[in-house]
Amino acid sequence: MPQKLKHLLSTQSLKKSEIEEILALAKEMEPYAKKEKQGNQMKGKILAALFYEPSTRTRLSFETAMLRLGGETLSVTDVNTSSITKGESLIDTAKVISQFADIVAIRHSQNGAVNEFSKGSSVPTVNAGDGTSQHPSQALLDAYTIQKELGKIDGLTIAISGDLKYGRTPSSLAFLLSNYNIKFRFISPKELKMKPEVITHLNRLKTPYEQTQNFEKGMKDVDVLYMTRIQRERFENFKEYERLKNVYVLTKKIVLKNNPKMIIMHPLPRVNEIATDVDELKNAVYFRQVENGIAVRMAIILTRFL
Ligand code: NCD
Repeated sequence: MPQKLKHLLSTQSLKKSEIEEILALAKEMEPYAKKEKQGNQMKGKILAALFYEPSTRTRLSFETAMLRLGGETLSVTDVNTSSITKGESLIDTAKVISQFADIVAIRHSQNGAVNEFSKGSSVPTVNAGDGTSQHPSQALLDAYTIQKELGKIDGLTIAISGDLKYGRTPSSLAFLLSNYNIKFRFISPKELKMKPEVITHLNRLKTPYEQTQNFEKGMKDVDVLYMTRIQRERFENFKEYERLKNVYVLTKKIVLKNNPKMIIMHPLPRVNEIATDVDELKNAVYFRQVENGIAVRMAIILTRFL
């Protein structure tokens, strides 16, 4: 067991050197992620994947990463079958799970729940998404994808569009990329603007950003357009969701008209915010993000034990 537990709870807590270490290691992990090689670096170790909120790709991505490193996995995917429904605290759950597993990837619908869990955990805890707050492994794989596709991160202009209020990927990514020399453009309806804590952080760092509601203007001259879905499950008022759900829909025609060169990213799942004709474009990289996610999660797992 390492002296100090290396949890991964948020992107704000990552130093630039740690980000770079993970991105470099992910590159080395690509042959394993692509099944060209089978690893044994995690032989004898168990990852517990605790998903108290729906997920397919993130859980399978963490599990695949562990298996391709020669480790094993345990998972909880249904909150109704866990002791949390009996009223057990997350700290107690963490104390128990730490006896079974060597590392935990946990997703929870409440902001702060993963932090709470980490207090009781005696093994490294990786936040796989908590409420509207954080999704650090996604932000790392997003940064890795940008670097891989465009050859650099410094000097780029990145538009993040969609549900910037309830989405956890936009804020996690903005915090992470604020370690680089980046210009941001946040495109959202006024009801779903970027979270105040991100804006305060960028102001403090003097990182340039613009906020706009105009989708087509917002994507002009950017290097990256990061699309997100409107987070239906987080709206208190369903009518408000219905009103906003089609606010921005990217089509091939819109890309070709406004910015045919930018790369188009999305954490997935997409609903209707990217038309399927965009998939034909070679700069639509969202399915490549999924592939990169395995290598990045391998690097995240490995660095917890260094
Ligand atoms: C994201 C999430 O769960 O926050 N999905 C993912 O992990 N790939 C984005 C989303 O659900 O919209």
